[in-house]
Amino acid sequence: MVRRIQPEPFRIKMVEPVSIPDAAQREEALKTGHFNMFGLRGEDVYIDLLTDSGTGAMSKYQWAALMKGDEAYAGATSFYALKEAVKDVLGFDYVIPCHQGRAAENVTFGSLAKPGDKIPFNMPFDTTRAHIFNVGAEPVDCVIDEAFDPECRHPFKGNVDIPKLEKAIATYGDKIPLIMVTITNNSGGGQPVSLENLRQVSAVARKHKIPLFLDAARMAENAYFIKVREEACKSLSVGQILRACMDCADAITVSAKKDPLVNIGGLVCTRTEDLYYRILPRVILCEGFATYGGLAGRDLECLAQGLREMVDEQYLAHRVAQVAYLGDLLEEGGVPFVKPAGGHAIFIDAAAFLPHIPQKYYPADVLAVEVYREGAIRGIGLGALAFATKDEATGETVYPKLELFRLAINRRTYTNSHMEYVAQSIVDVYKRRDRIRYGLEVGFAPAAKGLHHFLAHLHPVQF
Ligand code: F0G
Repeated sequence: MVRRIQPEPFRIKMVEPVSIPDAAQREEALKTGHFNMFGLRGEDVYIDLLTDSGTGAMSKYQWAALMKGDEAYAGATSFYALKEAVKDVLGFDYVIPCHQGRAAENVTFGSLAKPGDKIPFNMPFDTTRAHIFNVGAEPVDCVIDEAFDPECRHPFKGNVDIPKLEKAIATYGDKIPLIMVTITNNSGGGQPVSLENLRQVSAVARKHKIPLFLDAARMAENAYFIKVREEACKSLSVGQILRACMDCADAITVSAKKDPLVNIGGLVCTRTEDLYYRILPRVILCEGFATYGGLAGRDLECLAQGLREMVDEQYLAHRVAQVAYLGDLLEEGGVPFVKPAGGHAIFIDAAAFLPHIPQKYYPADVLAVEVYREGAIRGIGLGALAFATKDEATGETVYPKLELFRLAINRRTYTNSHMEYVAQSIVDVYKRRDRIRYGLEVGFAPAAKGLHHFLAHLHPVQF
């Protein structure tokens, strides 16, 4: 197959040596880590695709910005640099720094939601969901049905199903403190939400006077997908599209460890003073004063610079093409994954890869173990282990519709030959899939609703 090369719009100035642990070391690491990818040490891993969160490379401009950090407790110059970048790139007037995305979720849900509330969503990610549970509320998934069909190539599989949203509002009424839309939809395969859909959601939210929040961790990738897939937006820049998306929302929560290109950081941005002051007391309680929110002044500077860099179209074109390249190589090898390729990751369809392993034996996590065994590559299972729930009434386990194994690509970090190595290793696992005849069982896990997968001790079992 002849491919158009999409070369890196950067060159390497500093290298981080990595090495490949041998087969015996990998077996030992699996045992020590209780067959849970979160239990491995960094040095046990050759290519680490556990997450794209906080794992990217900063630019020379970000490293230079770090030195400008003003560490004043209140009113730091660095905060005002961040505020200005948010206003320029995203258009919000009120800016709350937080130490990362889940901190933004904590202060948002902790301030605005109460027990019994419902939060309509396209689909929440694991920590977001756990924060909703933590305040005694529940998410209501309103994503379009296409999201659950890995082979369906709908261009905007993260979209909200408007009739589902209307129904949720009709059913739960004033139990809904806010609506949230994740861009891109991480749990559903890193799939984008169209601008048209965001505008529709915004109109519904306004009609019912419910604030619309975006979980905007991957907002720049989402805007890039809109540019290349949404006819009406083709002539707009990614920056303009991003602003148009933000204009739909009353507020956003952001894990800045993703698109905004920093190793640590988060944000809540609001359009109104009212929302700002409702959220702020909890920030002071849990994060830090309003102008630093748990971050050092230097972190605020790096984030301000990262926000400006994330909308660079050459960077985004390469990023999305690199993920798609990995997808193409896997497709050539026959490996089933969520189509089209996501913005930040390839999500392998573990249910189709290992159809002989029942979901209760966690096929996505078995696949994670096998891919690690094969190539010292770390991905993460996003299936029953992470998302199964108990039906309170019947006590029965409710399994998620998708059983996915995610390979998240770090920003500006790995080369295309790393992608080739990953694809080759996974295709090799695919060739021997019929011989993978075991499941995983949870031995120990703390009782923490929505969080036990991070800490679970697993072991192989025959079934
Ligand atoms: N929202 C989304 C859509 C996310 O993907 C994440 C984190 C968060 C919120 C929470 O942000 O990690 O900064 O506290 N996702 C990471 C992942 C961890 O691997 O996808 P955080």
